[in-house]
Amino acid sequence: MTTQIKDLEHYKTMYDESVKDPEGFWKKEAETFTWFKPFDKVCEWDFQGPNIKWFLNGKTNISYNCLDRHLATRADQTAIIWEPNDPSFPARHISYKELHEEVCKCANGLKFIGVEKGDRVVFYMPMVAELAIGVLACARIGAIHSVVFAGFSAQALADRVDDASAKVIICSDYNRRGAKNISVKTVVDDAMDKSCNSVEKVIVQKNTGGHVDWSDDTDIWWHDLVEEQSAECEAEEMDSEDMLFILYTSGSTGKPKGVVHTIGGYMTYTCFSFKNVFQYKEGDIYWCTADIGWITGHSYIVYGPLLAGATTMMFEGVPTFPDAGRFWSICEKHKVNQFYTAPTAIRALMAKGDDWPAKYDLSSIKVLGSVGEPINEEAWHWYDKHIGKGNAPIIDTWWQTETGGIMITPLPGITDTKPTYASYPMPGIQPVLVDSDGNVLEGNDIEGLLCIKYPWPSMIRTTYGDHERCKNVYFSAFKDMYFTGDGARKDNEGRIRVIGRVDDVINVSGHRMGTAEVENAINEHPNVVESAVVGYPHDIKGQGIYAYVITQNKDLDDTFKKEILDVVRREIGPIAKPDKIQFVSGLPKTRSGKIMRRILRKIASKDAENLGDISTLLNPDCVEDLKAGALV
Ligand code: WT7
Repeated sequence: MTTQIKDLEHYKTMYDESVKDPEGFWKKEAETFTWFKPFDKVCEWDFQGPNIKWFLNGKTNISYNCLDRHLATRADQTAIIWEPNDPSFPARHISYKELHEEVCKCANGLKFIGVEKGDRVVFYMPMVAELAIGVLACARIGAIHSVVFAGFSAQALADRVDDASAKVIICSDYNRRGAKNISVKTVVDDAMDKSCNSVEKVIVQKNTGGHVDWSDDTDIWWHDLVEEQSAECEAEEMDSEDMLFILYTSGSTGKPKGVVHTIGGYMTYTCFSFKNVFQYKEGDIYWCTADIGWITGHSYIVYGPLLAGATTMMFEGVPTFPDAGRFWSICEKHKVNQFYTAPTAIRALMAKGDDWPAKYDLSSIKVLGSVGEPINEEAWHWYDKHIGKGNAPIIDTWWQTETGGIMITPLPGITDTKPTYASYPMPGIQPVLVDSDGNVLEGNDIEGLLCIKYPWPSMIRTTYGDHERCKNVYFSAFKDMYFTGDGARKDNEGRIRVIGRVDDVINVSGHRMGTAEVENAINEHPNVVESAVVGYPHDIKGQGIYAYVITQNKDLDDTFKKEILDVVRREIGPIAKPDKIQFVSGLPKTRSGKIMRRILRKIASKDAENLGDISTLLNPDCVEDLKAGALV
C-alpha cells in the first residue's frame, strides 16, 4: 500500500524527500502495486516535446490492482455502495469479490463483440454501477475508455466519439434524475445518425426498462451480452505508459480536447493522493458526489478508492430529490466518513436553509472536501458549521482534468486550513507562481500564474490525436513548465489560493467551458452575425454565462432568445446555456480585429465604471451602447 502520512512532521519530511529525490520517492510508492514485470526506470521527461514517461517498461494492469490484489484480504468487504435516485429503492452493496466477477463478465462480453487492446470505448451513461463496472472491464482488457457526461448533447457526444474513433458506445436506456426519467438511448441514436462511423456496436444497459428504438445491426443489451459470460477473465498485461483513458475537456479555443492519461503513473498517484488527502482509514465509508463523466469521478470515485481497497459510494440522483435534505440523509443512512462535493452544490443547499442538515445525524463525518472551483468564504463557513459542526476539517482541493489527481490541498488533521485557500502542495508536486514573462516569483505574499515545474506521475501525456495542441496549450507559455491556466496568490505564510482561470475558460457550477465553444454554438443560429461570451460572478454557479449577440433581421424578443438557448442545448448541452443574452450592434475590437473581452467581462460584472483605456479600440463608440443595455 502507498504510504499514509501520519502527522505534520511526516508530511514535511516526505515533501522534502520528494523534491530532493523525486525518483526515489515515487519508486517506493509505485512498488507497492502488483507489477507483472517490474519497471526498470522511474521517470523520463522533457517538457519541450513534451515527452513524459513514468515507470518505464513496467507491466501491470490497473483493474488487477483495483480488484484481484484485494481478493485475499477483502473479498467480502463492500467495494461500491450504490445509492439509488429513488430513496425507496434498496441501495446496492457490491463486495470486492462481486465487483471482480461483474468486471470479468463485462470484460469477456466486450471481447466477445471484438473489442481488443487499444480500441476506444465511449460511455454515455448515468451514475449506474454498470458505468464503474464497464470502465474497469475496459481497463482489464486494455481497451481505452472515454466517458462522456450524460448531460452532453448528441452533437457533443458525436464529436467525442469521432475524435476518439470509438468502436463501441455503452449507454443506458434512461437516466433517473429526480422525478424525471431522461432518455439516454435516443441521444446515442441521434449521435449515430449524425456520424459515429467508427462505431460497430452500441451496448444498452436496461435501467428503467422504458421504450427504446432498436437497431438489430448495432444494438445489443448489456444483460444479453454479459450475463452468460464467464466470471473469470485474466487481466491483460499492459505497459505502464499504455493509454488508460481519454477524457474530453474544454479549452480556450476550438473543440474540447481529449486529455490522455496512462496506466502506471495514474495508478500510483490516484491511490497515493486518495489515501492521504482523505486520510482514509480501514472501514471508512467514503462518498464523492461527482459524476464519473468528469475527472473527479474517475480518480476519486472509481480508481483512487478501489486501488486503496476502500468502500466508495456512487449516488445515482440529484441533491434536491426528493428534497434538499437528500445529501445529508444519505450521509446519515450510510454513516459517511469522508464527504467530497463542489462549492456550487454547497451554495445551492445553503440557500435552502440551515434546517435541512439540522434534521440529520452527521456525526460520522470526519473530513469535508471541496473541488472544482474556488470556494467562497461564506460557503466555506456554512459547510464547516452546519455539516462538519466545526469538527471536520475542510479540504479545498485544487487540481484539473490534466493533472489526474489532487495537487494542492490541506491534509485533514495534519496541516492547517484557511477559508478559500487550497494551501499546500502534495508531496511530489512542485508548484510555482510566475509573472507574465515567466519569471518565477520567490517568497510569500505574491500573486502570479500557477505553473508546475517538475513532472508528477498522473500528469497529462498528450491530447488525443493532436500532440502539438498539448504542447501549445500547456508547455509553450513558459519554458520547462506545465502551465495550468490559473492565477493564484500566496499568503504571507506560503499558503496557495487559486483565484481562477486567466484564459478564455469559464467555470460554471464547477463545469469547465470554453467561451469560444459557446460562441460557436450560438453562431450556429442563422440570424446570429457574431457573438462574444464571458463569465460573470453568479451566486450559486460561481460563474454565469453572459452572451453578447449581434443579429440581423430578427425581432429582439424572448422567442429569439429561446431559439439561441435551444441551439446551445443542441450543440453542447443544457449546462452551456447562457444565463444572460444582450443584443448589441457592435463588439469592442482592437485594430487587429480581436474582441476585447476584458471590457465585456467588466460590463457583465457590474464593473463598467472602470474600463481603462478604450481609445485604442477600432470602435470605441459601441462601448456606451453596451453599458446602456447591460443586463446587470
Ligand atoms: C479548473 C479545472 C479538478 C476536478 C474538477 C474540475 C478550477 C478546480 C479548484 C479549487 C479553485 C479550482 C481551476 C482549474 N478549480 N478546483 N479547489 N479552487 N479553482 O476539473 O474541469 O479540469 O477544471 O477548475 O480553475 O483549472 P476541470
